[in-house]
Parts: sequence; structure tokens; C-alpha cells
Amino acid sequence: MRDSILHILTNAHGYVSGQSLCEQLGVSPTAIWNVIQKLKEDGYNIKAVSNKGYCLKQVPDKIEPYIFQYERKTKWLGKNIICLKEVSSTNTYAKELGDCKDSHGTLIITDYQTAGRGRRGRNWSVEQGKDIACSIVLKPQLEPAQVPMLTLLSALAVVRGVEDTLYEYGIQTKEGKNSKLQIKWPNDIVYQKNANASKKKICGILTEANTDMDGISYVIIGIGMNVNKTMLPDEIKDMATSFMIEEGITIHRAKLVVSILYHLEQLYDTFITTKNMNVLKKEYESYLANYEQEVKVIGGNVSLQGICKGITETGDLVIEDVSGNRTTICSGEVSIRGMYGYT
Ligand code: BTN
Repeated sequence: MRDSILHILTNAHGYVSGQSLCEQLGVSPTAIWNVIQKLKEDGYNIKAVSNKGYCLKQVPDKIEPYIFQYERKTKWLGKNIICLKEVSSTNTYAKELGDCKDSHGTLIITDYQTAGRGRRGRNWSVEQGKDIACSIVLKPQLEPAQVPMLTLLSALAVVRGVEDTLYEYGIQTKEGKNSKLQIKWPNDIVYQKNANASKKKICGILTEANTDMDGISYVIIGIGMNVNKTMLPDEIKDMATSFMIEEGITIHRAKLVVSILYHLEQLYDTFITTKNMNVLKKEYESYLANYEQEVKVIGGNVSLQGICKGITETGDLVIEDVSGNRTTICSGEVSIRGMYGYT
């Protein structure tokens, strides 16, 4: 009955009379009242007004479908939501859904991952109930070479979503002015609390694609973000951080995810009409860490050092060497490092 009441209240977006609840669920007013009390104990802010009924005013930061349903601002992205208490990896789970006909836009989100995966075979760990670990299933009509651009879009969506959220917490000014966020091409989001602080990774994106005879059958966008964790292991604490560590705030993760989804839907709908980065290139570059600075390329078969000159219309990174020769790097298995520190 708890789920049914939540379903009705989250879809109502207003008051639902006690009588209507009783009729819909075939139970007594006392039974409804008891469940409402339990929901309040679980953090759901439900207002009860005589002659009007019950109204859901605020949802707690829990990984439950009703919470996302209540907060959701998208048309198609995240309409299907799978919330898991624990899973090995949301990306691995999402792959199982990739071949289902209707899985485009499905969000898989968990409170805890036991075998989270990062790029280049690394692990990704989350603290239970404190971080964001989610994956999105997309079924775009793209050539395999165009898929990496989805990572860039997702990074931009994360930056926009985080900025909107930090603005609500009074930590970030609106519209990316003096943003504390940067994108370390192609898939890391870094945070810099102030000009004197070092830049540290706060979010990583793992994009995995599957191809069949007709081309790309699905793409999984996995997003891992350090949100409310208070500590990081010694070996990564100089390179990584969380919003709690930096700003001492507890962020409502579900609202943050909803905000990221909102931006990702907008960016995806824009991108998919052209399948290039032309419209988004300028905005992406405005967040690009090491833009116009010296970088070196790590991994892959390339050994390269030069000035980062932004991205191409297909999302590759442009590096200019001392002689002025430009090389474009596609994301694949490479990473970029500035000359000093992690970024
Ligand atoms: C990286 O920076 O190397 C990418 C990290 C991506 C981690 C996320 S957490 C949710 C999803 N499931 C996974 O197993 N990995 C991604």
C-alpha cells in the first residue's frame, strides 16, 4: 500500500482527498493515515489539510522511483527508472537492457555498487547512500565514431546540472559565471573551490557502446559522482574530492540527478539533429580544463605534448606542437594531463 499511496501522491502534484485514497485502494481512512505517518518518518513531507486531503510537498533523498517521478522535468529521459539498493555496476546492469526495444532513455540508479567500473579498467567506488552512481541507456542512430561525442554531451550536462544545483545551495553564481567546474576532456569533471585551491576530480563518465550488424545497438552512459562522502582513500585524496569535502554541504542527490537528466535531454535532442558538436563546441570549450595551456597525452599509441586548442566539430581534442602543427586526438584510451598536478 505504501507504494500505491506514493504513486498516487507523486502523480497528483496537489491535494488528494483521504476519501479518494480510500476508494482507490479499498482501505479505511485509518489505514491510509498509518501509512502516511510511516512515510513522514521516512522523510516524505506530506501535508494533511482537513477538507483537502494529503499533498506531497517534498521528497527525501532516497533512491526510490517515486522520488525521481516527483522531481522529473524531462520528456523522455529517465521516464523509465530502475532503482537498485545495491548492484555490481549500473553500467553492467544497463547492458542487459540495451537490447530491449523500449529501453531508450532508461535510468538505472543505485545506492551502492560492489564492482563499479571506471575508464581504462580502473575501479570506481561509491560510499553507500552518499554518492551518485547511475547509468543511462541510449539507442541513438549513430556511427561508432560518433559515440564519443555522447561522453562530451554528458559531461556538459553534468556541469550544467551541478551548476544549477550549486546555485540553489548558494555556492555557484548563475549561468556558469566564475564556474568552479571544469571538464577534463573527455570524461572527467573537476572542481576548484577557489583560485588558490587545486582542481580535483568530482565526477567520471564511462561510456560503453554495443554494435551489431546494423551499427550501434545501444550506448550506456555511466555517471559516477562523489557527492556527500566525507572521506576519500589516501591514495586518491589529492586528486579527487566531493561536494561535502569542498563545501561542507549535503546535496539532495535525486534532485541533482534530475537536473543532470534535464540538461542531458536538451543537449541530446540538439545534438542528434546534427550529430556533431558545432552548436555545443563553444560552451564545451568554455569549461575545458587546460584550454590554451600545455598538456601531454597519456596512453594509446601517441606520445604528444603541446598546447590544447579546444575540440573539433567531432569532439576530438586539438593539440598544437611547438612548430604550430596541429594533431587531433580521439578519446579512445587516452588521457590528458596538464603539466602540473592532476588536471
Ligand atoms: C572514470 O572516471 O573512469 C569513469 C567512472 C564511471 C563510474 C560510473 S558509476 C556508475 C556507472 N557504473 C559503473 O560501473 N561505472 C559508472
